[in-house]
Amino acid sequence: MSQLIKNKIEELSKNIEQHNYNYYVINEPIIYDLEFDKLLEELIKLETEYPEYLLSNSPSQRVGGQITKEFITVKHKSPMLSLGNTYSEEDLLDFDDRIKKVIIKDYEYVCELKYDGVAIGLTYKNGLLIQAVTRGDGQSGDDVTTNVKTIKSIPLKLNGINYPDEFEIRGEIFMPRKIFNRLNKEREEAGEQIFANPRNAAAGTLKMQDSSVVAKRNLDCFFYSISSDTLPYTNHYDNLKASKKWGFKISEFMEKAASIQDVFNFINKWDEKRSSLEFDTDGAVIKINSFEQQRILGFTSKLPRWAIAFKYKTQRVSTILESITYQVGRTGSITPVANLKAVILAGTTVRRASLHNADIIEKLDVRIGDTVFVEKGGEIIPKIVSVDESKRSIYAHKVVFVSNCPDCGAELIRNTDEVNHFCPNELKCPTQVKGKMEHFVSRKAMDIDSLGAETIAQLYDANLIHNCADIYYLKREDVLKIDRMAEKSVNNLLAGIEASKKTPFERVLYGLGIRHIGETTAKKLAFSFKNIDSLKNATLEQLLELGDIGETTAKAVINYFEEKHIVKMIEKLASVGLQFKLSDNELFNSTDKLKGISFVVSGIFSKFSRDDLKKTIEQHGGKNIGSISSKTNYLIAGENMGAEKKKKADKLGVSIISEDDFITMIN
Ligand code: IVH
Repeated sequence: MSQLIKNKIEELSKNIEQHNYNYYVINEPIIYDLEFDKLLEELIKLETEYPEYLLSNSPSQRVGGQITKEFITVKHKSPMLSLGNTYSEEDLLDFDDRIKKVIIKDYEYVCELKYDGVAIGLTYKNGLLIQAVTRGDGQSGDDVTTNVKTIKSIPLKLNGINYPDEFEIRGEIFMPRKIFNRLNKEREEAGEQIFANPRNAAAGTLKMQDSSVVAKRNLDCFFYSISSDTLPYTNHYDNLKASKKWGFKISEFMEKAASIQDVFNFINKWDEKRSSLEFDTDGAVIKINSFEQQRILGFTSKLPRWAIAFKYKTQRVSTILESITYQVGRTGSITPVANLKAVILAGTTVRRASLHNADIIEKLDVRIGDTVFVEKGGEIIPKIVSVDESKRSIYAHKVVFVSNCPDCGAELIRNTDEVNHFCPNELKCPTQVKGKMEHFVSRKAMDIDSLGAETIAQLYDANLIHNCADIYYLKREDVLKIDRMAEKSVNNLLAGIEASKKTPFERVLYGLGIRHIGETTAKKLAFSFKNIDSLKNATLEQLLELGDIGETTAKAVINYFEEKHIVKMIEKLASVGLQFKLSDNELFNSTDKLKGISFVVSGIFSKFSRDDLKKTIEQHGGKNIGSISSKTNYLIAGENMGAEKKKKADKLGVSIISEDDFITMIN
């Protein structure tokens, strides 16, 4: 029996990884998402029932859940070098001349795009991903294996047979533009600081402590170099092509070039087309193909002589800033937007640019009527990068940030520790009120898809809904009076609202739209406090003790429940049957057995994922803390636990226990 289960788990894992490859690497999925989800569900179910067969490289681990408090520094086997930069055809001709002088025979180049992200080096042993390390200072970088494992286009286990037993492959982790724009939009709406560009977003994500958040950010990776003593081919191009068969994502835009003229053709072609790519590229990389010729050319003290980067000029135009308008988000945050004299940039007409907040306006010292330089990176909306002060009119005055809400007229406020201005009129400011309801019914919250933004606006304009609770008190006869609301749509709407009452507590909590509380934090709060009353009564200290929750977020929770109208709204929602506590199923395993006991969890476990272990501690009333101190009662040690942690625990007299000891404790 057990062999059967083991085989089934292996077969499912292999199947799932093949579908991941089809979807994320070669972009040719052969099954529907739903079928894929079913396979993954089946695997997770088996792994939960038979945790002894859960492998650290199982595709189920891609959802993340492990927390890394401190990234360990690892020395690179060979330094991660950078490339010399060129900006003109003359520079490239010089590069070609230098090569000609050394390589008397024929040579060929490989042209690639220069992906704009974060360099990563991955080590594979016997077909399994062992370690992922960032570039760092080139000599050593951070071990980010846990986070990298959540990137679906990175193979955890290789296909085929002719890969070397051990090798390192290097590439660039990036955030696709679409994902970046969505992430920034969500952050802006939640009143959080946005990322300046997809590169920063990728770098920030890769260094996050909670790998389940990384998993949701949809990072991607192109590979551009592979090294080992036993590669199947003697040139760069063929080895990269082979590595695609093993499961790595290699850009389809890589090309061989027989002459420097072919290199120019590649560069010029992509200068025009690069703005249409799904990812940012800031140039091209030209490499000598033959390994033997690369060896002959060698390195200067810092750079390879056999490769060079050609950097594209940033697409930048100048235009006039005509005015600034201010937009209100669902949390009341105010975003200034620059209205520009229309100008063509990278093939599209640009009329607007984001200015983000008052600090950015101040830093740019941009004034109405100024001639400004506009650039476009991965963002949908381009940004103003500087002002041409030589063209400034003597009448141009400093921008005075709007003092009242453009929608409702309320006086704006700005908290000392925050970048954004806010409209405090959350009860009556129409954009905020509608925005909050839109968020409440959105897919990840109450998921009422029969209630879109347009219907919310209609119901609001008709005075039928003013807050999330009103949605549950809508009367059929009132809704029928609304334009285009026929019997069938009203039935749909009311059925959707009714069905949403079963939405689990953590999603209801997320839907409330408390500032700075995203999906993950909402989950954490729900599982830690178990019901809305305990959360409502939580002190700042209790919230901070949870770890992973900073002071701004903790204060946002406290402030939220201090509002009388919020308390009233929650009461109304509870009285129509919304879930404001964990389900019986979730509570079933909860006890007070670990009350007052604090744990630090470290390493990899065979019977729990790290997240599950922490959840179990919380379900039994225990406390998870981030790092070991004299107040820690137990360190639950898993495989690969850092030596530093053990030393510290020994020094402070903290008991070190295994996961089996822990299981005994709760049973
Ligand atoms: S090859 C010996 N190829 O650019 C150096 N690098 O300035 C080998 N990069 O650190 C690097 N796309 O992070 C190479 N197609 C590509 C690249 C690429 C982006 C980055 C990489 C490297 C930096 C060099």
